[in-house]
Amino acid sequence: MLNVDEAIISRRSVRAYKPDPIPRQTVAHILEVASRAPSGTNIQPWHVHVFIGDALKSLCDAVLDAFWNEPEKHKNDRVHYMTEWREPYLARRRKVGWDLYGLAGIRKGEHEKTREFHSRNFKFFNAPVGMIFTIDRDMGWMSWLDYGMFMQNICIAARGQDLHTCPQAAWGSYHDVIEKHLGLPSEQLVHCGMSLGHEDTTAEVNKLETVREPLDAYVTFHER
Ligand SMILES: Cc1cc2nc3c(=O)[nH]c(=O)nc-3n(C[C@H](O)[C@H](O)[C@H](O)COP(=O)(O)O)c2cc1C
Repeated sequence: MLNVDEAIISRRSVRAYKPDPIPRQTVAHILEVASRAPSGTNIQPWHVHVFIGDALKSLCDAVLDAFWNEPEKHKNDRVHYMTEWREPYLARRRKVGWDLYGLAGIRKGEHEKTREFHSRNFKFFNAPVGMIFTIDRDMGWMSWLDYGMFMQNICIAARGQDLHTCPQAAWGSYHDVIEKHLGLPSEQLVHCGMSLGHEDTTAEVNKLETVREPLDAYVTFHER
């Protein structure tokens, strides 16, 4: 069993998976453990749709069809990150993007290859399990924080089963397609997805090493 630090540090966003199936009980176990996440006043604002087998393929086909044939129709009306990119966030975003594309063999200006790479999101990077997360539309920002804690718990609990994950905002851009596919009540919305599976350790893209700022850059200790 990994200790807590090992589980956290060994988590990475994995973007290529082995086809090996994952038993439904393992997924259920991970999600039960993850539900121990704290949430303000314990309201537990999460709902997970788990896709496996034919159901996974059918969801991916629906979204890929929209992605390739009518991408301009499916913009997300919510701001994912920031309206106007600025430093230091822009440089960090660019670095991870170019490091990843470098491993994928994509150079600047290769739009078709970039698009093909982006499309892999909508196959859950070939993972055997895909998850789509929904939330009630009227939930406030504290509940979105709760959701983040829940999702991080999934990533860490997956490490306990020797599995890997990739949280995916990309699905949010096709929320309308997924909401229709799921027949989701109008009070709920799809905000993102996550891949879950065994890492394909031979894949170049999984060699990505992301960096973090040193402690001093984001911590202020107040002692007197
Ligand atoms: C909310 C959220 C959304 C993300 N969306 C995507 C995505 O759509 N596609 C993708 O390949 N990676 C996605 N990522 C992964 C990030 O790129 C990754 O976490 C970041 O570069 C740090 O790398 P690491 O997770 O390997 O430590 C997302 C991560 C988070 C937390």
